[in-house]
Amino acid sequence: MKDLTTPVARPANPRFSSGPCAKIPHYTLDMLSDAPLGRSHRAAVGKAKLAEAIDLTREVLGVPEGYRIGIVPGSDTGAVEMAMWSLLGARPVEMLAWESFGEGWVTDAVKQLKLDATVRKADYGKIVDFAQVDFDKDVVFTWNGTTSGVRVPSGDAIPADRAGLTICDATSAAFAMDLPFDKLDVVTFSWQKVLGGEGAHGMLILSPRAVERLETYTPAWPLPKIFRMTKGGKLIEGIFKGETINTPSMLAVEDYLVALKWAQSLGGVKALIARADANAAAVRDFIADKDWIADLAADPATASNTSVCLRFTDPAIKDGAAFAKAVAKRLEKEGVALDAGAYRDAPPGLRIWCGSTVETSDVAALMPWIEWAYRAELAAQG
Ligand SMILES: Cc1ncc(COP(=O)(O)O)c(C=O)c1O
Repeated sequence: MKDLTTPVARPANPRFSSGPCAKIPHYTLDMLSDAPLGRSHRAAVGKAKLAEAIDLTREVLGVPEGYRIGIVPGSDTGAVEMAMWSLLGARPVEMLAWESFGEGWVTDAVKQLKLDATVRKADYGKIVDFAQVDFDKDVVFTWNGTTSGVRVPSGDAIPADRAGLTICDATSAAFAMDLPFDKLDVVTFSWQKVLGGEGAHGMLILSPRAVERLETYTPAWPLPKIFRMTKGGKLIEGIFKGETINTPSMLAVEDYLVALKWAQSLGGVKALIARADANAAAVRDFIADKDWIADLAADPATASNTSVCLRFTDPAIKDGAAFAKAVAKRLEKEGVALDAGAYRDAPPGLRIWCGSTVETSDVAALMPWIEWAYRAELAAQG
């Protein structure tokens, strides 16, 4: 396609946002009619819903028995910070970052908790070298860099007999990538990502070693009520059975249950991973033979299958940031891709969410539109 004729086919669903992400296919609000609205979350019906959300999370995600799963306040950020504030400080810390969210956790550790942490950073498009990481320290990292489209390829570099804890922000990875729970002591995510749920609540998954730390270590700093997971040196087990610290949204819980049941009906995490893989492949197949667009991920081995980040490489482009923004605007105006611009702190480009709720046919239909928008913008810049 060299002319500026618009493509014929359009994505049936143009929602490619990286969070909140597209709802499950064929979603309607009627699906939430079983939500116990106006009832206490501490009533039997509320507690049963919260416990079901935990149980289904375990089943769909394949979380081992013995690992605690809690629903906590503050979406993924709440879950990560609850873990950091509760667990860190007991031993030396390494902070790994390769995009803006990971950098946010570095700021938390260094500037807020004032820890003398070893900080390892990689540029957008790359990840840090895990071979250099000392896993006898506590290590905090993001499994998938949502704003850079780069992920940890596997848990192979994490030793099984590590002395430190691994604290992993897996919010744009959970359900779409294989998470090796035996290598991860804390896993966090939000419902708003791969399952297309709502923001507000975070999921906090703790290994037995993380629980041991909670029960044997008291941080030097004060903990707000919203972060407190122990009482009298013992884990508050209720949090991990659905007795949330404060009031959850039962509408959001119902919405998460609907998404989990959809995931279960597909066959669980393997099927969800296959859907994200197919979506990301649809993007990469399209860009493979193009000399004007490329993956921000430098190495295919670490390229994300959820937040696929693209950069324009045509030397004829005069102002990269303005160009990418204008392309995203054209896509939005045509109603073929909403929220597909790169994250504000990331290199200019597009970010196409390829998580499991997105249909591959929609990703495939979007690709010619990206070429159209690129050519139209190139023509417009003169
Ligand atoms: C890697 C990562 N961490 C944390 C967050 C923050 O998530 P939330 O807004 O659910 O707290 C995001 C959101 O996009 C993210 O991508």
